[in-house]
Parts: sequence; C-alpha cells; structure tokens
Amino acid sequence: MAIKLMQLCWLGAALTMVRCDPTSRWPRRSWWLSAAVAAAATLISAGITVGEAAAEIPVTRIAFGSCANQSAPQPIWDSIIDFDPQVFIWMGDNIYGDKRRPFKLFGKERTGGPWKNVQRFYPASEQEMELDYKRAKSNPGYSRLRQKAKVIGTWDDHDYGLNDAGKEFSAKVTNQRLHLDFLDEPQDSPRRKQEGVYGSFTFGSTGKQIKVIILDTRYHRDPINSDGTILGTTQWSWLEKEMKGPATEITIIVSSIQVISNHTATMAPLFYMEGWGRFPKESDRLFKLIAESKRNGVFFISGDVHFGEISRFDCGAKYPLYEFTSSGLTQAVEKVVPHAFRSLIRGIAWLTPATMRLMSSNCRYSSCTYGKPNFGTIEINWNESPVKLKIEVRDVEGYPVAGVNVYLSELQVGNMEPAAVSSGEFQRHCSLEVNLPWFIRYRLVILFCCFLGVYFLIVLLLLLHLAVRVRGGHLSKIKRD
Ligand SMILES: *[C@@H]1O[C@H](CO)[C@@H](O)[C@H](O)[C@H]1NC(C)=O
Ligand SMILES: *[C@@H]1O[C@H](CO)[C@@H](O)[C@H](O)[C@H]1NC(C)=O
Repeated sequence: MAIKLMQLCWLGAALTMVRCDPTSRWPRRSWWLSAAVAAAATLISAGITVGEAAAEIPVTRIAFGSCANQSAPQPIWDSIIDFDPQVFIWMGDNIYGDKRRPFKLFGKERTGGPWKNVQRFYPASEQEMELDYKRAKSNPGYSRLRQKAKVIGTWDDHDYGLNDAGKEFSAKVTNQRLHLDFLDEPQDSPRRKQEGVYGSFTFGSTGKQIKVIILDTRYHRDPINSDGTILGTTQWSWLEKEMKGPATEITIIVSSIQVISNHTATMAPLFYMEGWGRFPKESDRLFKLIAESKRNGVFFISGDVHFGEISRFDCGAKYPLYEFTSSGLTQAVEKVVPHAFRSLIRGIAWLTPATMRLMSSNCRYSSCTYGKPNFGTIEINWNESPVKLKIEVRDVEGYPVAGVNVYLSELQVGNMEPAAVSSGEFQRHCSLEVNLPWFIRYRLVILFCCFLGVYFLIVLLLLLHLAVRVRGGHLSKIKRD
C-alpha cells in the first residue's frame, strides 16, 4: 500500500515537473507547484513508511476487559492506560443496552419464580442503544485509551441487545452496525457485510506474530440446552480456515463466554451460567479443531461471568490450553450485591468445586477467583528464550490479583498427548466437572438443601411451640371457666 501511494505521489510530482518545460504556458508557477508537490510527496511517503513500520513493531502489551456499565463511573480505565497497552480487546457486554424490570415475586408483573408472567429483560430501541454506545465511547478514560491503543473486540448478550439471547433475536442486524461503529470498524470492512461480528487481526512481523481470532457467540447461537450450535455453519468454516491458515507464534481466541470451565455442572439448579460447556458437542468440536490444526501458542480469553479466573485444560489439545477470564470492568459480582452478601459470595465461590481452575498457594484458602472489578493483561517478552508470556488479572488499581507465567515452549504441539482418563479416575485440569463424584459435584446444592432443611425445621418447631402454648392457654382458660 505504502509503495503504491508513494509511486502515485512521485508520479504526480513528475507530471507537474513536465510543466517546468520553458515552452509551457505557466513556466514559473508550475515550477513552484511541482516543487511543493514533490515536497508533499516526500513527506506523505515518509509518514506512510513510519505508519507501516509502526505496524511491524512487535506487540508486547495487550489489555482486555468486559462488562462495563456505560452509566456507572469507570475509574478502571486509568489503570488500564497506566499499563500502556498497544492493543485493547473487548470481550463483550461493552455496554448494558437492554432494559431490566425490577425483580418481583408477587404482584401483577412477576419477573421471578416459577410463576413469573413477564420477562425480566427486554430490548431497548435503536435510538436508546445508540445513545448508550455514545455514552460509553465518550467516557473520558476510555477516550484516552482509544487514542493510545488499537481497540478491537466482540460483543456478548447485553450489547448484542438482550440478556442471554441467541440467533432468534431480531434486532441483531441493526445492533451489529452499532457495535462495529463503536469499535470504529472501517466502512468497507467485511465484518460489516457478513452475519455476525467475528473477525481476525494479526499484529507484529514474522517471528513475533500474534493472531487474535474474535468469535461471535450470539448471532448464530441455538437456544441454550439444545446442544445445537454456538457459531453456526459459516462461522465454523471461517474459523477452520483461520486456524489452519499461516502459522503465528501466538493465537488468542476471544470468546465472550467461558470455554473451559463448566460452572453450571457444579452450581445448577442454584445458578446457571452460559458457556461452551452448555453445548458439549460444540466445545468438543472446538478442542478437536485446535488439535487438528496443529497450531501452536493458542489460548483463550473470555468475559461474561462477573469475576476473574484463570483455567487450564490439559486434555483438549496436544498441549495445555489456558483460559483467562476477566469480567467485569464495572459489573463484578461482589460489586452488584449489597455489602453484607460479599462474604456469602466468597463462601459460595470457595465451596464450588472447579476442576480446571488454576490454584496457587497464595489463594489456597480462598477460591482463586476475583469478584471485584478487574481487567486482564498480557505481556510478551519476545527477547527472552524461550519467549515468556506474563498474563494477569488486575484490580481497579492495576495490582495483579491472579496471574501466571507461560512459556511459549509449553504451548507447542506434541508437548502432551490428550490423556485418556479412565472413568472414575480424577485428574485435575482434565476430568470434566460432570465426572466428579456426586457428593463433590453437588456439594453446594447439598449444603444449600441442608441449610434450607434446618431453617424449615426451626420454623416448624417454633410454630409447634407456639401452637402448644396457645392451646395450653386455651385449655387453662376453659378450666378456669
Ligand atoms: C448502571 O449504572 C447505573 C448508575 O449507577 C445504574 O442505575 C444501573 O442500574 C446500572 N446498570 C446495570 C445493568 O447494573
Ligand atoms: C456442562 O454442564 C452441563 C450441566 O450439568 C452439562 O449438561 C454439560 O454436558 C456439561 N458440559 C461438559 C462439556 O461437560
């Protein structure tokens, strides 16, 4: 591109030079004109060369985040800017565009309980979505980040337009345009012509290349519990091509929903989460594709769950597959509940078994998840041998709260055969949550039921006690009479 533009500029200068010919009708003026054009050509081509060189500068710092309420204060941008990322990746819920009715168990409009008669969430109008995006984009912190870093990303349900929505959602066409406008996607980008916001970016020069594959887990997604598709046929073929295409040292797969951890398996029926685990056939297909593609250096980043977590799956490909979840920039689980419930939430996190989560000695007695606002960071030291990646979840002040060093030499095909774990045998980072012994898998549910049981027993005893006293009083009254 630069070469072509430069040639054009010089051609322009050369053409005006021709007019320097003394026989020409404007000898003097055209001399100055051609000199000016030549100077401009030199400047422009120099500028473009610098621009191209910038694209070749190896990327060493990437930040990522998700779940940002455009109407709430967003102080976290300051820490993200302090980290000085070259690239920032949105993982969805970049705005909260849909509307929410208050949670009501009783009354005319019931949004909760098995007897609910209206949906809790409903979509906003196009104008409202546009305003929300405008608000998000003009946040002073985020605006400063946009000037410093290349911003790319995907959406999740709340910026897609409706909580937990999939392919059935009709405003997806309009909202795709709004989302890509928010991300400053060029008007002629193929992402604007296709169905869904998936796409890929490659940064850095040969030997230090990073490919970012951005998935759309909403536009084509079948209903949850259908075990149907998440990506849809066209996006799958595209992904296969991307994965089997030219090798890059690092490949980051961006999925709005979690890929490795299947928290629903250990929390249902108390809590349900979205995630690839809810679509077992699709998650199998994804791991098979990674293995088959023989691509090195692949890992996932994700959002959605309102806490930070690092997971690893050793039985998906021929090397360990890491997943770094950062959620949310403002909407974190401990922030959206009243203060008194924070310990309860930590207790729940600690009690819930997680076979894939990376545990470290300094969080052995907590859950190794982080429930306050957070963002993710990736630092790549290309000069170290082997190349080192330091990947962290950081708090609102920018201090790491979880992290791991991964050497690129670990993420090479052949480092590990997907182990066939015999049924009944537990292997951390390999055995699926659904294969845990039932008393561990349902630990949280069992405890909840015990708690509920004891609670009802106490209430029952109290009622009995009261009844006996009332009856006793009644009897003594009859006696007296
Ligand atoms: C976003 O923040 C505003 C202002 O604090 C609040 O009223 C609203 O409920 C929040 N939205 C969500 C989805 O939490
Ligand atoms: C994840 O958990 C759900 C709920 O228990 C289950 O139906 C599904 O098969 C699990 N997925 C995987 C990949 O284990």
